[in-house]
Amino acid sequence: MSPPILYISRLLPDPVMAAARQQFQLFNEPRDIAPSWETFKAGLREADAAICTLTDRVDTALLAEPTRLKILANYAVGYNNIDLAAATAKGIVITNTPDVLTDSTADLTWALILAVARRVAEGDAYVRAGAWPGWAPTQMLGTDVSGKVLGIVGMGRIGQAVARRAAGFNMRICYSSRTPHTPGQGSSQWDQRALPDLLREADFVTLHVPLTPETHHLIGARQLALMKPTAFLINTSRGPVVDEGALVDALLRRRLAGAGLDVFEQEPVFHPSLRDLRQVVLLPHLGSATLATRVRMGMICLENIAAVCSGRPAPNQVSR
Ligand code: DGY
Repeated sequence: MSPPILYISRLLPDPVMAAARQQFQLFNEPRDIAPSWETFKAGLREADAAICTLTDRVDTALLAEPTRLKILANYAVGYNNIDLAAATAKGIVITNTPDVLTDSTADLTWALILAVARRVAEGDAYVRAGAWPGWAPTQMLGTDVSGKVLGIVGMGRIGQAVARRAAGFNMRICYSSRTPHTPGQGSSQWDQRALPDLLREADFVTLHVPLTPETHHLIGARQLALMKPTAFLINTSRGPVVDEGALVDALLRRRLAGAGLDVFEQEPVFHPSLRDLRQVVLLPHLGSATLATRVRMGMICLENIAAVCSGRPAPNQVSR
């Protein structure tokens, strides 16, 4: 019997591509750029299984097309790019890649917290530009991180991993979440708060909620107005969780000290004013971007596909 046909929308790291070629017949050779709409549609129509990424929109119209697809493995933990109801109605199993990217995303969140507080990107640009006249007592003074209050919005796997790392900085955690969470041994204090109270209290607010209709623009003008003018906002979740226009406005009016953004409302486009704001650090959606993590994400996609193609339940099926 010939192996199932697998469509992969984007080139994945070498070990994943090698494993995919060994187990499946590839629909085509994926490239490092987004596929054309026609290729994407054909892949989903003609393959038995597919791996797509967060930049591929799998919407109702696309899912209305005839297909033999049994499983669509999303190469991400978030799956807001897929119309889950339409896929489920069509009998297509949707899976994601939880757990394996928790640490890399939590690490990157910390990179942003430290970068905005200690003006890391600004300092790097200053030295490279040859503008540094030498050490001075009042030069590029930043903000302490140690001993401050870290506000975590969304206390899932990534939120908790971010919270655990705060113990080394002797920070108190306040978090908003539907369910209470207890810190493990050696962790700092974790206090549950309603979102408005968290925003008033925290020195750093970091977002770790999935993008859903309820979390779209969860942080807008009203929420930003509650934050301390000395506080920083960090977003490594999904861009549309923040109203980018309202954030730019708050930053321009100095209603907020700064922001660390790994995600944007309309990636790769972002609000033009962000480019000119020195108190903002901008990253190109690097949350899970380590080689080891991206390999693990691919292997999980393949495991889920192998399961479904051999009639077993997918370990990471996203339930509705
Ligand atoms: C995810 O998995 O949702 C990440 O954003 C990918 O980098």
